[in-house]
Amino acid sequence: MGPSASLESDIRRVGTALFEAFPSHRGNPLKALDDRAMDLAAQDAELRAALFRFVDVVPACRSLDDLAAHLTSFLGEIDEQPPSLRAAMRMGDTKAGRAALGAAGAAGVRHMAHRFIVGEDPQAALPVLRRLWRDGIAASVDLLGEATVTAQEADRYAARCAGALETLAGAYAQMDAQPLLERDASGPLPRANLSVKVSALTPLLRPEAPARGQRDAAPRLRALLRQAKELGAHLHIDMESLDSREAVLELVLNLLAEPEFADGPSAGVVLQAYLRDSPQTLDTILASAQQTRRAQPLVVRLVKGAYWDHEVVEARQHGWSVPVFERKADCDANFEALTARLLEARPLLRVAIASHNLRSVAHAIARNELLGGAPGDVEFQVLRGLGDDLGQALAASGLRVRSYCPVGDLVAGMAYLVRRLLENTANESFLADQAQGVPVAQLLAAPEASLS
Ligand code: FAD
Ligand code: 2OP
Repeated sequence: MGPSASLESDIRRVGTALFEAFPSHRGNPLKALDDRAMDLAAQDAELRAALFRFVDVVPACRSLDDLAAHLTSFLGEIDEQPPSLRAAMRMGDTKAGRAALGAAGAAGVRHMAHRFIVGEDPQAALPVLRRLWRDGIAASVDLLGEATVTAQEADRYAARCAGALETLAGAYAQMDAQPLLERDASGPLPRANLSVKVSALTPLLRPEAPARGQRDAAPRLRALLRQAKELGAHLHIDMESLDSREAVLELVLNLLAEPEFADGPSAGVVLQAYLRDSPQTLDTILASAQQTRRAQPLVVRLVKGAYWDHEVVEARQHGWSVPVFERKADCDANFEALTARLLEARPLLRVAIASHNLRSVAHAIARNELLGGAPGDVEFQVLRGLGDDLGQALAASGLRVRSYCPVGDLVAGMAYLVRRLLENTANESFLADQAQGVPVAQLLAAPEASLS
């Protein structure tokens, strides 16, 4: 058997065992999203577009009422509204109806949000984080909030991050040892782990003036890196839409190259496999890691990318070539190619595979085995509320797992929620296929990349 045939057979073995171990293949893993919202959004392209436009205004909304008003105004523009939506929109004609609609909308959003958001603040999230740790699952806390519009908001977000680092470091110090989560071949792994978004650390992140945004965000991010170093915590910088990618990556890599950060903290960036130029981005990351040789290897979280609709629509609106793959199989094949490169780049980097797709995950496990890596030498990451069953199954198989746990209030979490809704109602989504009962052999089939 040639190497690729043997890899495919390993992927089938690993993937089938995981599939059997994770209970949601018997049910619908998308129960995490509100059923009605899911059904409507999956059926109706205009509704998905309205939701997509809604995300853009979310950062400017200050209350649930404000959110409900914007949402109904976008939904009102849909030409052929499904009956349930028409009934809802009619309620908006009267004051009492609007109040009821707002309350119902808010209740629906709350219902959905409670599956994803682990607490209003880090303190309130601790019971969930403790339970996860007891079950052998680490966490990365994500403080909800993005695209700030004023300097005061950016200061407030930075202060929330600083508070979260303190709370997490204090709480994790009290937890029992979990050897698999605390060390890999490169050395000790911090227990406390925080994910941040640079667009929340500056209101000035604009593609036409990247240096301005970098200058404004740098002091806030530098202070957080210093604090993470003092507390022995890990700081992970999320990646957002393409218009901020260059600025964010350059800012983070430059800060980490500063002499004071040579021996800490542990830090990480995100590589988005849906971007056609992601292999070149990985070149940049590898070159920087080679050059700086920090004591704790940079963690690269490999994802497909959460802004696919945004990138496609924005490029089409401007007549630009679309920067993301437009065939899902091309994105999945690129994810696998990047997985292989990342695993081979160790110990220069640490690798975190963030996906709910059984094929993508089984490929990384099999590839790691093929390379002789120990199970704990690659991390698997899932989103709280969507990948819980997969995370449990991976942890039960002796793998190192981290759950990405959003913390914050509903208004701050709205853009995050809508991204999850769009992602999982798209025509091509692993979780949607799984929910529709696609057979496991098909779920585990190799992505057939086109030649282009
Ligand atoms: P799959 O169903 O296999 O893939 C869905 C993804 O495929 C879509 O999200 C999209 O990226 C891509 N896609 C969909 N349709 C097409 C198409 N027609 N052509 C090409 N590609 C398509 N995302 C970020 O952008 N930044 C982050 O910092 C980030 N952090 C994350 C952290 C964790 C722990 C996890 C689990 C995910 C994170 N994500 C992040 C989200 C991630 O990018 C994915 O959107 C999500 O995980 C779905 O991908 P999947 O492999 O689980 O599922
Ligand atoms: C998002 O915020 C998970 O970072 C990803 O959508």
